[in-house]
Amino acid sequence: MIANMLITVLYLSLLLNSGLTINVLQSGDQVSQPGVKVILECSLGPGFSMQFLFMYWYRQNHYAAPIEYLLSELDFSEGHFQMSIDQDKNYFSLEIDEVFLNDSSIYYCVVEHVHCDSGYEAHFGQGTKLTVLEPGQAVKSPKVKVFRPSSKECRNPIDNEREKTLVCVASDFYPDHVSVYWQIIQLNVTSGVNVIRGENVTRGVTTDEAALRKDKVYTITSRLKVSAEDWYKPEWNFECIVRFFNGTHDTDYKDSISGEQGPDILTREKYLRITRQAKLSYSVLIIKSSVYGAFVAFLVWRLQSSAEKQNH
Ligand SMILES: *[C@@H]1O[C@H](CO)[C@@H](O)[C@H](O)[C@H]1NC(C)=O
Repeated sequence: MIANMLITVLYLSLLLNSGLTINVLQSGDQVSQPGVKVILECSLGPGFSMQFLFMYWYRQNHYAAPIEYLLSELDFSEGHFQMSIDQDKNYFSLEIDEVFLNDSSIYYCVVEHVHCDSGYEAHFGQGTKLTVLEPGQAVKSPKVKVFRPSSKECRNPIDNEREKTLVCVASDFYPDHVSVYWQIIQLNVTSGVNVIRGENVTRGVTTDEAALRKDKVYTITSRLKVSAEDWYKPEWNFECIVRFFNGTHDTDYKDSISGEQGPDILTREKYLRITRQAKLSYSVLIIKSSVYGAFVAFLVWRLQSSAEKQNH
């Protein structure tokens, strides 16, 4: 186990240091019923002979788990895993007989390049995500909602006015094959032509590393930070796109909100409201104190008159 992890670390460091690019291409995500046979594929870009390459399969159970070694050319089968190579077509595969629930993982195809003089170089494929469906649990597409920036963010006008955070929540989906994108679109009311200002915005975007499971479904959150200046553009539309793979198709689910009217108008409205409220509470205060004053005067008068009666 530790040896395998060391090997993986070594691979990763070699990968980072290598200048050469071998394109390791893996087949797309899969969603499978339990108990059936699943085949994952891997191929190399043209121009590489498999003669000086070693093939491996690794997997990672979830995003925080260590990468686990499965098979290599040296041991073609192990448990319910099996590997096959087609030398001519630069193609090799991983077969899993009768997948179990705990075979749900991201599978990595790794190609090790042997240099006779300088050693080895490892190249990872992009990974294929496999989900084995839990019995009785149906595929469910996400509900997407974008929330406007919290008003708490602009309490301190000096520091916080500069940034606004929009939150996108995708919930109620199963399995967790999703990716989240943001797009900024400028709506042009007069010409009717909408301009995409930012396609797949990455600046200021933070998305959860993995979807969170609650009960039987998943939720994932993404945040987009924009400048206050950009947020106060009512003609701008901030759109969150959640791409969900249901086992056969990728479908986009979206929600969006438009920017707000600039703060000077808000401030004026707020100012009027606040002064109106202040006037009202001040009047209430005056009325209250007058009533209280009258009451005290009444008490004093009563005390005085009863004292006078006792003196007589
Ligand atoms: C996946 O999406 C496609 C296209 O929208 C649809 O035809 C298919 O029935 C869906 N499959 C499942 C399992 O929901």
